[in-house]
Amino acid sequence: MKFELKRLDASFLGDLLSLQDDAFRHLGDPEMLRPNSAEVFLECLEKHHTLGIFHEKELIAFGILYFGKGTPENLGHDLGVPKNLLFKVANVKLIIVRHDFRGQGLQRFIIGELEKKAQAMGYEILACTVSPKNHVSIRDFLLSGFVFWKQTPKYGVLLRNVYYKRI
Ligand SMILES: CC(C)(COP(=O)(O)OP(=O)(O)OC[C@H]1O[C@@H](n2cnc3c(N)ncnc32)[C@H](O)[C@@H]1OP(=O)(O)O)[C@@H](O)C(=O)NCCC(=O)NCCS
Repeated sequence: MKFELKRLDASFLGDLLSLQDDAFRHLGDPEMLRPNSAEVFLECLEKHHTLGIFHEKELIAFGILYFGKGTPENLGHDLGVPKNLLFKVANVKLIIVRHDFRGQGLQRFIIGELEKKAQAMGYEILACTVSPKNHVSIRDFLLSGFVFWKQTPKYGVLLRNVYYKRI
């Protein structure tokens, strides 16, 4: 296979930051993405599930499955999920594909792999937020079976569409 898939650990922190820089350099509108700090990426690598896609041993894409549990980060709050079921909701927090590897369906592949992981862990709903300006990403989530729930201000002043999928 052309690409290799691997769960990432903390040693990949620098690579995630570089891929995020690459994404911002090629972004039409900076409002489309919420920048993540090194601390947040480290937490994702250590406590959540971060998958990497490698091409010839080089990390060229990643996706983060985030377990919001009882925190405000759990998108189950936005979906109106009852409190006792919040632990069944996992977030697809962020997916980035390096600009020179785009157009090969890698985001949809990563969504599928994160979904399998969430299912295996007993999660029943996947949720994500996407900027209404991010047409490529919206298309990928809809093609992956996600359903639009609502549009809402998130993360301060950013407008976001909330999507979910029963898994
Ligand atoms: C969103 C993203 C992950 C999609 O990458 P991808 O999986 O390679 O996208 P696709 O394979 O579905 O590409 C579909 C088409 O859109 C194009 N495309 C992909 N990303 C694009 C972008 N940022 N700007 C313009 N066109 C883009 C591709 O070239 C392709 O065109 P084609 O069908 O003519 O070949 C990638 O654009 C990215 O990393 N963006 C920055 C981070 C981001 O927005 N992440 C999503 C938020 S969770």
